[in-house]
Amino acid sequence: MVRFLLNGLEEVCAAPPPDQTVLQWLRVQRRLTGSKEGCAEGDCGACTVVLAEPEGDGLRWRPANACILMMGQLHGRLLVTVEGLADGESLHPVQAAMVAHHASQCGFCTPGFVMSLFAAFRSGESARTSEIHDCVAGNLCRCTGYRPIVDAAADALSGSRDDRFSPLATDIATRLREIAAGPALSVETDAGRFLAPRSRSHLAAALAADPGARLIAGGTDLGLDVTKRRQPQRSLVSVNAVAELKTMEERDGALVIGAAVPYADALPRLAAIDPSIGVLLRRLGSRQIRALGTIGGNIANASPIGDTPPLLLALGASVTIGSAAGERAVSLDAFFTGYRRTVLRPGEFIDRISIPLPRPGDLVQVDKISRRFDQDISAVCGALFLRREGDRIALARVAFGGMAATPARATGVEAALTGAPVSRQTFENAAQALARDFKPIDDFRASAAYRLRAAENLFERWFLAATGALEAAE
Ligand SMILES: Cc1cc2nc3c(=O)[nH]c(=O)nc-3n(C[C@H](O)[C@H](O)[C@H](O)COP(=O)(O)OP(=O)(O)OC[C@H]3O[C@@H](n4cnc5c(N)ncnc54)[C@H](O)[C@@H]3O)c2cc1C
Ligand code: FES
Ligand code: FES
Repeated sequence: MVRFLLNGLEEVCAAPPPDQTVLQWLRVQRRLTGSKEGCAEGDCGACTVVLAEPEGDGLRWRPANACILMMGQLHGRLLVTVEGLADGESLHPVQAAMVAHHASQCGFCTPGFVMSLFAAFRSGESARTSEIHDCVAGNLCRCTGYRPIVDAAADALSGSRDDRFSPLATDIATRLREIAAGPALSVETDAGRFLAPRSRSHLAAALAADPGARLIAGGTDLGLDVTKRRQPQRSLVSVNAVAELKTMEERDGALVIGAAVPYADALPRLAAIDPSIGVLLRRLGSRQIRALGTIGGNIANASPIGDTPPLLLALGASVTIGSAAGERAVSLDAFFTGYRRTVLRPGEFIDRISIPLPRPGDLVQVDKISRRFDQDISAVCGALFLRREGDRIALARVAFGGMAATPARATGVEAALTGAPVSRQTFENAAQALARDFKPIDDFRASAAYRLRAAENLFERWFLAATGALEAAE
């Protein structure tokens, strides 16, 4: 049974189908219709709810898209919906600010905005405009306009952070820990099963017993298979309760990130490698997506336009794959075998990703090109790693997404850079090699010609980065 707290009160769902979304359950079964369905694909934010988990003495609050969240993902968490915010007759400070600033017209998007702001409110975030923009980047409003919403956010995030959850946080954390200390989640129904093993060995055993089971991490890709592609999921095995897959550590000069670490947790550590990585991850989906989505899921789905694989390829990352048979390490170079195909075999899972840390003086630069700054998928994503000796390039790794059926290294480009001086001519030569390395994909996001031209233009930017001029300009 799935045990969680709904707006502070314990809720037990004995046997939800494995692919039942939280939004369906809220609206159809629980008749809590405040959370809206706009797109059913994690884009519009109308369904935003807030999830909290124990952290230290208190709780960590994050927004999530209920439309692509499976019921099993709620186990051991607090789920807050817009119905749970008001304290009796008193609106929550975020709601009161929305009213005071006339930040709602048709109201369809409003519960989602309120919940995104509530997550920021409880997380103690500042009222800086850049943070507010980031906070609502995953919420679309088609009629009010954003200024009053941003004003309401600034107002709510400038005052006291007391609300009806303030005195409850410690008690809620204790109750969630009790659920976590109970049996591991295992729901079996006529509609299928949802398992959430607690250890690597139990995860391996669950997959060995049912090699046809599908792994779920954040569900931010998998959820769309359910809601958009109408593919029922009969057997899901979650990696989220596996403690070993949720760690991040530095080991032997590499940053090792467990496959179940969500972007929101990995972001600060990765951004410390280079600010351009922080910008990349800050633009990956929205806060709702980054709260749950993982690098493990980004690699495993093997999309040619996933944002982290080009970066990881350029950094020389490798993936450790687990199964009941043990572990094997695979260089990310060898991981993608074709369009949405990987070396993963039935019964295997990505356990962790090892990212060699650059040395002082190495250059790392990653750039995502998409139509919108926020909440958009890449047309092209390019990443560069350079190690220099004097004024020459001793080692170059360059990788792109959106340029082939898989994320891939640009070997001709790398050859043009390696051993050459750091000069504009070298980067121009490298750009010319691109057309020999790739035949870019051609689709509704961008034409092949656009992709090639945009990728070539990155080399001017990367030359500036190599000479320090980019940093000075930005
Ligand atoms: C609105 C929206 C915006 C998005 N924006 C971006 C974006 O800007 N850039 C981008 O790159 N992506 C984006 N995505 C896609 C998605 O968020 C990412 O690919 C994310 O990293 C997927 O991770 P996840 O943990 O949610 O994977 P899941 O959805 O849980 O799983 C994805 C696939 O990987 C498999 N899998 C998961 N974990 C493992 C594991 N440990 N071992 C083996 N297989 C595993 C699953 O079986 C599934 O097939 C977006 C998605 C949405 C809905
Ligand atoms: S309904 Fe649009 S994000 Fe969920
Ligand atoms: S108030 Fe109408 S969509 Fe935002």
